[in-house]
Amino acid sequence: MPGIFKHIVLSICLMPGILACNKKSGTTKNTVIPPVAEYPLRPAHFPPAVYQHTSNPYSAKGYELGKRLFFDPILSANNTISCGSCHKPAYAFADGGVALSKGVDGKTGKRHSPAIFNMAWNKSFMWDGGVNHIEIMPFAPIINPVEMAQDMRELIHELNTHPAYPAMFRSVFGKDSIDDQQLFYALAQYMSNLVSADAKYDKIKRGETTFSAEEMEGYRLFQTHCNACHTEPLFTDNSFRNNGLDKTFSDSGRYRISQRAEDMGTFKVPTLRNVALTPPYMHDGRIKTLTDVVEHYATGVQPSATLSPLLIKNGNPGLQLNDTEKQRIIQFLYTLTDSSFVAQHTH
Ligand code: HEC
Ligand code: HEC
Repeated sequence: MPGIFKHIVLSICLMPGILACNKKSGTTKNTVIPPVAEYPLRPAHFPPAVYQHTSNPYSAKGYELGKRLFFDPILSANNTISCGSCHKPAYAFADGGVALSKGVDGKTGKRHSPAIFNMAWNKSFMWDGGVNHIEIMPFAPIINPVEMAQDMRELIHELNTHPAYPAMFRSVFGKDSIDDQQLFYALAQYMSNLVSADAKYDKIKRGETTFSAEEMEGYRLFQTHCNACHTEPLFTDNSFRNNGLDKTFSDSGRYRISQRAEDMGTFKVPTLRNVALTPPYMHDGRIKTLTDVVEHYATGVQPSATLSPLLIKNGNPGLQLNDTEKQRIIQFLYTLTDSSFVAQHTH
């Protein structure tokens, strides 16, 4: 399995305190082998992961099986749509320029496909946090009529009668037949180990390079205006907020799940890692470019009862940024692009 070994070696290279890594030959010097159970591999500047492989022990074979399933349209009703149809590796697992992804029979839903990486650090999933565990996450898209529209029992039957899957599942889970739990475990092994932590920002945190003067200015502005919600180093604090897109809400967001008035029109704060690769933006993909996003925060913030007070300055909605400040913030956002993550997972 050369793919998985590359994955592990590259991830280990992200831990400078433990290892000095010679990336060219893929070998390590001064090697201290981390304990095998330590998955997902944690970059030194990341907090501990939320998801631990307690009931679902990580293995290279489990990761490879999850990867194969992720890109296999067998998961959808008419075998035309895979998870990878909407979550494309070349766009950090978002849907390359598409506001609303097409599911089975070209149907579309109401929400934009988010990027998928660093999922092991997520406290909840979906724009409204409607799913709270990565091991059940795939159930939602598989049965959703506008995504994969699949009948779970039919899918499990297809997998059990497939020429390759029964042996692959057996070698990972040691069971006689495939069930939905094993399917979700395998997908969780793949998704939770998609770790993106090698952007310029990360290289700077590891002391390998420095910001340009403009990027540094952007970083300071970011810390002042954005970091309270898009908190380093994951660039999300996992909270739900109203960032002022609307005055009234056609999508009630977190309220749909919590039924609390203060959650009306709030959505999960998305990570800003790889954000230059994942347009269009917001829960419904309504904003096309980063320039327009920053303009939204500067001048477009709409007042409402649940608007975050962090987006009100001197009693007025909006962050009141001047043109240079807007430009610098965008320059900083570009330092969050992890091309080696994308290259590693694009095939
Ligand atoms: C038709 C497009 C489509 C397909 C197919 C699809 N997804 Fe998604 N995915 C989405 C959309 C849209 C959302 C956001 C939904 C929401 O918030 O209501 C999402 C959300 C997610 C999230 C949550 C990410 C986060 O940060 O909260 C994960 C994880 C995920 N999908 C994994 C998968 C897996 C695994 C599969 C295959 C079993 C899959 N998706 C198939 C469109 C798709
Ligand atoms: C009050 C919390 C908060 C602050 C402060 C904030 N944001 Fe956001 N941001 C959010 C939320 C919530 C969303 C998602 C909203 C939605 O989709 O409805 C979001 C979405 C985004 C997106 C779209 C990401 C995507 O994948 O769709 C970008 C880019 C962004 N914010 C950049 C910034 C920048 C730059 C700043 C500072 C100028 C900033 N944000 C300040 C909460 C915040």
